[in-house]
Amino acid sequence: MKILVVYYSMYGHVLRLAEAVAAGVQSVPGAELVLRRVPDLPFNEAKVRESKHAQEVLSRQKDIPYCSLDDLRSADGVLFGTPTRFGNMCAQMKALFDQMVELWGQGAMEGKPAGLFVSTATSHGGQETTGYTMMVPLLHLGMLIVGVPYSTPGMLHTEGRGGTPYAATTVAGGRNDLLPAAEDLEIAKALGARVAAIAAKLRG
Ligand SMILES: Cc1cc2nc3c(=O)[nH]c(=O)nc-3n(C[C@H](O)[C@H](O)[C@H](O)COP(=O)(O)O)c2cc1C
Repeated sequence: MKILVVYYSMYGHVLRLAEAVAAGVQSVPGAELVLRRVPDLPFNEAKVRESKHAQEVLSRQKDIPYCSLDDLRSADGVLFGTPTRFGNMCAQMKALFDQMVELWGQGAMEGKPAGLFVSTATSHGGQETTGYTMMVPLLHLGMLIVGVPYSTPGMLHTEGRGGTPYAATTVAGGRNDLLPAAEDLEIAKALGARVAAIAAKLRG
């Protein structure tokens, strides 16, 4: 059973969530982790070149392959990770969604569980909106949306950190200088495990 974890990250926060999600996937017996990133787009390449922080994060990811349509087709469950861009997914991740028209036409993603993970700069910068606007294309593709139930440790809180029922989240800070809270990483891990466990049940 293959579980695909696919993400884009410029400053490393979504990458850290992806690592936690991946650990959760790997905690489920029979789950084979497929970790992929999506490539940058030309409009952003100069920004990455100009930022030491972004360069360092890019070099940490150099051995992670780009996601192909076959990775999506062969997955039994998928977790998609993105930084917020104006309360929505980033263009790099949207480009992957827009390449999925062939899979949509074939119904290739139908019935597969999908989870989401998201980073925002600020607490109220769009954690929830990014989660649920990403659900729209997932529903078009016929995927089964898997959220984070409130029984997950760390979900019931009032601190300035992540933890939404729509997506595993974290707060990166206005200068992308915060680290994900330990609780955010645990929630991301729990979501990875949940998607893998549900995929296993659906396969029977
Ligand atoms: C074009 C653009 C739009 C952004 N819009 C938002 C936003 O609406 N809300 C917010 O909290 N952060 C916003 N951010 C900040 C990013 O979400 C933040 O850098 C990201 O979550 C860090 O994740 P990463 O370290 O994985 O790249 C925006 C950043 C850019 C470049």
